[in-house]
Amino acid sequence: MRFDIITIFPELLASVFSGGVVKKALEKKQLEVWVHDLRDFAHGRHRQVDDRPFGGGEGMVFKPEPIFEAVESIRQSSQSLVYLLSPQGVRFDSGLAQRLACAPQVVLICGRYEGVDERVSRNLVDGELSIGDYVLTGGEPAAWVVIDAVARFVPGVVGKEGSVRQDSFYSGLLDHPHYTRPRSFRGMKVPKVLFSGDHAKIRAWRRKKALEKTLALRPDLLERQKLTAENKKILGSFTKKGKDNEPH
Ligand code: ADE
Repeated sequence: MRFDIITIFPELLASVFSGGVVKKALEKKQLEVWVHDLRDFAHGRHRQVDDRPFGGGEGMVFKPEPIFEAVESIRQSSQSLVYLLSPQGVRFDSGLAQRLACAPQVVLICGRYEGVDERVSRNLVDGELSIGDYVLTGGEPAAWVVIDAVARFVPGVVGKEGSVRQDSFYSGLLDHPHYTRPRSFRGMKVPKVLFSGDHAKIRAWRRKKALEKTLALRPDLLERQKLTAENKKILGSFTKKGKDNEPH
C-alpha cells in the first residue's frame, strides 16, 4: 500500500518513518511513503501557497490551486483515497484505520495556518480526518499518527497477525494487562493464573480484565457496541460482586 503526504514542511516528516515497524515494512516493500513539498506545485516567482482570507481576519489560508494540482498529479487511481488532516475532520479511530488499510493509496494533505480554502474540503477530498479534539500547529504529526495506525492493519506489516487482533480497540475493548519477569517486584506480584499453563483459564482471565478495564476507563466503548452474551455475563458478575482484589 502507498501513502502520499502533501506538506509545506517535508523535512519534518523525513525522519519519522526511519525506525521501527514502518521502516521494516518500507524495506520489505509492503508500504511506500512519499512526501511531497506543496511548494513544488505552486506557481510564480515566490511559489506562494497561501494568501489572506477574503472577508478579512487574522492569518493566512492555503490557496486551492497548488493543492488541487498536487492531488491531481499524485492520485493514482479512482480507488485512491484523499484526506485533509484538520481539527474539523471526523475522528480517526481503529475502525477507520482498518478501512484505510484496504485502499491501494491514501493521500494525506497537511493543513497549516488558519485553514485551507473551503473548495479543497468540498470538491477535492474524500473527507477530513482529525486525530483528536485539540488544534495542532499543522497536520504533519497527524499524518504520522494516521500512517502508523493504518500500517499496522496492512497484511504482513506487524510480524504476528494475532498481535493486531489482540490490540486495544480491535475488539472494541481496551487491552488486558501485560506482565513480564520478575514474578514479584517490590512486593507487587504477577497474578498466579499467568503461570498456570492453563491457556483457557488465561484467555478467560484476560477477557475479564479487558472488560473490567474498559468498564472503568472507557465505558463509552461498551455502550457503542453489541456485546456478546459471554461479555454481558462477565460484566454482570462485576456489578454483583464488585471488583475482584487480584493484583493488577
Ligand atoms: N491539524 C490541526 N489539528 C489537527 C487535528 N487535531 N487532527 C488532524 N489534523 C490537525
